[in-house]
Amino acid sequence: MTTKPIYLRSDTVTRPSQEMRRAMYEAEVGDDVFQEDPSVNQLQEYATELLGKEAALFVSSGVMGNQICLRVLTSPGDEVVCERDAHIFQYESGSPAVLSGVQLMPVEGKAGVITPEQIEPCIRPIEAYYMPRTKVIEIENTHNRAGGTIHPIENILRVKELAKKYDLKLHLDGARIWNASVASKIPVKEYASHFDSISCCLSKGLGAPVGSIIGGTKEFIKEAFRVRKSWGGGMRQIGIIAAAGLYALKNNIERLEEDHQKARMLAETIAEISSCEIDLISVQTNIVIFKSNALNVLDSIERCSEAGLLISEGKPGYLRMITHLDVSFDEIEKSKKILNNIFNKK
Ligand SMILES: Cc1ncc(COP(=O)(O)O)c(C=O)c1O
Repeated sequence: MTTKPIYLRSDTVTRPSQEMRRAMYEAEVGDDVFQEDPSVNQLQEYATELLGKEAALFVSSGVMGNQICLRVLTSPGDEVVCERDAHIFQYESGSPAVLSGVQLMPVEGKAGVITPEQIEPCIRPIEAYYMPRTKVIEIENTHNRAGGTIHPIENILRVKELAKKYDLKLHLDGARIWNASVASKIPVKEYASHFDSISCCLSKGLGAPVGSIIGGTKEFIKEAFRVRKSWGGGMRQIGIIAAAGLYALKNNIERLEEDHQKARMLAETIAEISSCEIDLISVQTNIVIFKSNALNVLDSIERCSEAGLLISEGKPGYLRMITHLDVSFDEIEKSKKILNNIFNKK
């Protein structure tokens, strides 16, 4: 009998639990294009409250959430300032250009953080009609490529001041804002309050099979609803998956603390291996990024996979492990042994 591999490639791999499936099975549904699906409406009302925004909208994915927000906040020819390793820059298929006609101004940050001192010189002079128009500053919290790092609230407040000075909008890619909130003990509501729009995922650490939520003013969400439909994102009896999202929000936020503990255990194991490099300070939530000086990335992934541990490449040259609710403490112990066997070659 083959044993089940330990899946640390992503926190998107979780499968709906029995309880979540029961909530889906029992969900009351209607036609959401007419805004008549009770389960979707319930999810959106609950999320509105949780995010402390005027309104919220259920969308199919994190990419869709970010891209709808950018579309609503910008006009073609505008520019969005973001960190160089931001998901919207690295992993969203060039969608800001394709879907909104805007370009990105990536700025090299530290641990995913760009400061007002770095952003200010990138803001285009208002009188320079021949340049793109700076419209939005985007922040990712936690920051995926930086290794799940939390964006310090002090910097968010300073960036907000800058945005105010130049009349810019602020968007938060909060795919893992729940992890940031649990680890920093800063309520999601507080993070969200500093942004014009927020997008957050239900299908990562929270364990729902599909979906993200975007939040903003009533006017913003009304426009987002229109954009979602125009992109073919209007779905019908979608309460069946909204119920999973609502279950995730009600039951799976606090437990993220456990995923953070597990990531810490893995990170400390790596830190003990002399052939590996890791910045323990960057391990703040459920992501562990490290480098092997003994094996290249592909060989590392292959050797781990042969031993039953599935890991992936993070940013180029680095390995990544992500903990989630479908990986047990027992599997973390087994992972530690595998990592030691593979990388601890003195
Ligand atoms: C920070 C961040 N934003 C957005 C997304 C996109 O989410 P999805 O895969 O649901 O489109 C991801 C996915 O990994 C992410 O890590």
